[in-house]
Amino acid sequence: MKRISSVSVVGLGYVGLPTAVLAAQCGYEVNGFDIDINKAEKIKNGDPTIVEPEIFQRLNEVLLDEKLKISSELQSADCFLIAVPTPLKNDKSSDMSAVYDAGERIAKVLKQGNLVILESTVKVGTTMKLAKILEKKSGLKLGVNFYVAYCPERILPGSTFKELIENDRVIGATCLGAAELVQDFYSKFVKGKLEFADDKTAEMVKLVENSSRDVQIAFANQVAEMSKEIGIDPYNVIKIANKHPRVNILNPTCGVGGHCIAIDPWFLIETFPQNSKLLQMSRSINNEKPKTVISDVLNEVEKFKTLNNKKPIVTAFGITFKPDVDDVRESPALKIASELSKKDSLDFYVYDPFVDKKNINDNNLQSFEKLNLAIRASDIILFLVKHTSFLQIKEKEFIGKQIFDTCGLLQHFAQKNKLFLQDIVKVSLELKPTINF
Ligand SMILES: NC(=O)c1ccc[n+]([C@@H]2O[C@H](COP(=O)([O-])OP(=O)(O)OC[C@H]3O[C@@H](n4cnc5c(N)ncnc54)[C@H](O)[C@@H]3O)[C@@H](O)[C@H]2O)c1
Repeated sequence: MKRISSVSVVGLGYVGLPTAVLAAQCGYEVNGFDIDINKAEKIKNGDPTIVEPEIFQRLNEVLLDEKLKISSELQSADCFLIAVPTPLKNDKSSDMSAVYDAGERIAKVLKQGNLVILESTVKVGTTMKLAKILEKKSGLKLGVNFYVAYCPERILPGSTFKELIENDRVIGATCLGAAELVQDFYSKFVKGKLEFADDKTAEMVKLVENSSRDVQIAFANQVAEMSKEIGIDPYNVIKIANKHPRVNILNPTCGVGGHCIAIDPWFLIETFPQNSKLLQMSRSINNEKPKTVISDVLNEVEKFKTLNNKKPIVTAFGITFKPDVDDVRESPALKIASELSKKDSLDFYVYDPFVDKKNINDNNLQSFEKLNLAIRASDIILFLVKHTSFLQIKEKEFIGKQIFDTCGLLQHFAQKNKLFLQDIVKVSLELKPTINF
């Protein structure tokens, strides 16, 4: 069997670009193609267009060495790797059109012996549908003239390169030939184990992984709501419950966002409407969470106004969908910030060291540029995302502030200094505002 030496990557986003760069660094001749011409042009000129540790330096190295080239047309190669978006439509049904469009483009340059790897997260059955498109449009035969495999990506944005190398992967091969070629391809840069399965199983594995996290977060969010009802700290409940050797509850959040956990369960719900009741309920609980946070914050705002006879300055710390990334796609924190910014009863600001000013302006939000200034100016501090830099805040800066914590940040300070929370409560009680968890 011919070994793979050249790769064409279709879709140069959070998954496709780092994979293209790493493959180029590991010796493949890589060509990158993206339907977004402006983005492709920027990448060609050394701007990765995404925030990810190491990406800038690594990209510029492979561009300089000409191991990675960016083209305006998809180039022929031994292996094609598809990493295009797979979003939801407004009615929550899946949109796999970019995968099929990629298939049509690949079919035009597909040759004998080629391997096509689909890495996008997809609805069950998409890999086989892609394979059929490739067969029909190229005239070549699957498993005889070309090979297809589904290899979903498990990376964590923020640690992409480490995870691309170290994570175990599931390989959904459509035939033995595909499995052999895929092993050959990934073995150059993946140190994790490759687990082989059929294409449907691998599709299901990816969706089940993210759906299980959605269900677990929904449970944590219910613990938070129950704890709130009786005035206790849910993070403390969970921390202590997790001392049980067989319990591992996740932390409550202000909602579930991003382009994986909030989306992937819908692919299963679409395919299995009768057997996905738990997933449907979890989606609904996690979707409701931003609304609950907004309503709780507005209650605190009213209390503040009554006590202080003025509007509070409320600042949301963090608007991304998860800590330490710049990505605001499907971010519940951004949803909360956008809604609060429209209210007349408060002066609302955001502070997020990862999100650039343009993005903040595009979302019609006012922001503070500096952490210290944001804290000093705020009456109510609303922690929405647990960015690591927020852990550096000096405890004394909180004194006299009302803190509304939706991401368990105060637990960190409580653990660091056991007395601190009590101190805050004391200060808060003197000043009358409350701490909210
Ligand atoms: N980002 C992650 O952390 C992550 C993790 C695991 C899985 N995934 C999955 O990987 C896939 C890609 O995600 P992403 O975050 O890289 O998306 P992204 O939006 O960052 O990048 C996708 C790129 O594909 C391009 N594109 C769209 N249609 C195209 C087409 N027909 N031909 C060529 N290029 C096209 C877009 O312009 C964009 O640059 C999705 O299915 C996602 O669910 C993402």
